Amino acid sequence: PQAPAKPGRLNGMRVLISAGPTYEDLDPVRYVGNRSSGKMGYALAAAAARQGAQVVLVSGPVQLPTPAGVQRIDVRSAAQMREAVLSALPADIYIGAAAVADYTPRQVSPQKLKKTAGTQTLTLELVRTADILAEVAVQEQALKLVVGFAAETHDVEKYARGKLADKHLDLIIANQVGIAGNGFESDQNAAIAYWDGGQREFPGTAKTQLAEQLLDLIAERLDA
Ligand code: CTP
Ligand code: CA
Repeated sequence: PQAPAKPGRLNGMRVLISAGPTYEDLDPVRYVGNRSSGKMGYALAAAAARQGAQVVLVSGPVQLPTPAGVQRIDVRSAAQMREAVLSALPADIYIGAAAVADYTPRQVSPQKLKKTAGTQTLTLELVRTADILAEVAVQEQALKLVVGFAAETHDVEKYARGKLADKHLDLIIANQVGIAGNGFESDQNAAIAYWDGGQREFPGTAKTQLAEQLLDLIAERLDA
């Protein structure tokens, strides 16, 4: 078992965190979104601030109060999140906790899309978004630690370790989504962290509690 985090463990560190979903607009009244609540990223931001860090939180649309002592920047789309994250650098630690849309509509209609008479289907054309986490990890020389999340429904370790390597991360936190009472929209979460040469399992607990435990691991990996 880990010792509880000592207050001030991240004293003076600049910690940049992305959280929440992104919304990709189709027209003035519709968007493509996802079920991220933002709770995990917000809990990490709150916990990092309690540990003495200077925290910047880039947040997609969520229904959560700003944690005490945290500077929050609100965004909507993946493209806006990328701009805000890159503008907030440099940082000592980047934690990509946001559920960033992988695809966005090729074009946003300035007018409300109307049903087409006589057609029963609609095909949306989507294009890939930029991978913010991978971009931050290769660009930012000042970063001491880059942490990603991996939301997986199956083959968790295989996919999580693949992302750890492909995106040049120091640490990845995987959670199995789609299990009742776990992950997206829930107050609870279980996770497994992977790094080069190690792993640690975090049994299901409140996201606030998990955030404290993850920050302990982050502080350990900083020292490693
Ligand atoms: N991520 C990001 N920018 C994107 C997509 C993902 O910064 N455009 C980040 C997420 O914030 C997360 C990590 O990459 O920290 C992994 O996200 P995930 O959706 O699990 O993986 P992907 O690489 O997008 O692959 P896939 O969705 O196909 O599993
Ligand atoms: Ca994805």
